Amino acid sequence: MATRVKVLMDCDPGHDDAFALIVASKFADVLGVTTVAGNAPLSLTTKNARIILDICGSNVPLHSGAGRPLVAEPIHAAYIHGESGMDGANFAEPSRPADGADAVHFIIDTARANPGLWLVPTGPLTNIALALRAAPDLVKNISGISLMGGGRFGNRTATAEFNIWCDPEAAAAVFDSGAKVVMSGLHLTHQLMATPKRIEMVRGAHKVVGPKLAGLLEFFSKMYKSLHDDFEGAPLHDVCAVLYLTHPEFFVASEKHVVVEIDGEHTRGMTVIDDRHVSSRTTANTTVLETIDADAAFATIVEAIRACPER
Ligand code: RIB
Ligand code: CA
Repeated sequence: MATRVKVLMDCDPGHDDAFALIVASKFADVLGVTTVAGNAPLSLTTKNARIILDICGSNVPLHSGAGRPLVAEPIHAAYIHGESGMDGANFAEPSRPADGADAVHFIIDTARANPGLWLVPTGPLTNIALALRAAPDLVKNISGISLMGGGRFGNRTATAEFNIWCDPEAAAAVFDSGAKVVMSGLHLTHQLMATPKRIEMVRGAHKVVGPKLAGLLEFFSKMYKSLHDDFEGAPLHDVCAVLYLTHPEFFVASEKHVVVEIDGEHTRGMTVIDDRHVSSRTTANTTVLETIDADAAFATIVEAIRACPER
């Protein structure tokens, strides 16, 4: 049995964050979860994380974090995730409160106590940037940061992806930190869509939570398809950041230099990827995930759902 990767999930549930937590709970050693404002205000992303941890039957520590970006004004994504941040199904009230509201120090303490930890941010990078600023030693202590964000095109703007666009200053600090960064960008995550056939696989995967999780995907996909010309379903963006650590064989990656644009009138929040084939290109600082075996990935998501406790 391969040793399970130790991860700390930093998230803004968020439909796809929910599936990332379920997959991490099954296939990784989750040492804790922190929340950040992004898809919805912090109070809602934290409540949604509590709901998902109940679905996973997980009692790992949960700490809320930044309610707003470092500099930018807070903007949420009800247009995609609904007013609750996770519309599409009714869930019981969470069984337990969060364990604290200082995500930054929880991240620092957990990383220092567990050398080799992976940080897995799937929302805006505010908590991660604040932790790296307060404790630069983390860069050497952790194995790396496997993040969902950025890519070769945008979604919030033509050039900027939502997680990076929400807090470009935080994202720039993370990519410039010297930590090993693995980037699941939109050019990758759009390969993992929740098609109608896959939603039915989710529905049948678990007597109790299958129908609810399918309801989440139906809502998420309805919103995505209403906003895009040619989507078969909503991409499960955040799951990619987990699967790279638990199932690296699903991916093809390249080593590239990535920097985050802060000032561009049309490009603020863009991850500028140096794809030039010139010897003078900037030294790579990021593992950019390029392709994913989507069928194998979705089968793994279904396997993780099956493992949720019957309750
Ligand atoms: O752009 C996609 C990202 O923004 C995902 O993490 C999704 O959950 C939203 O946070
Ligand atoms: Ca997210």
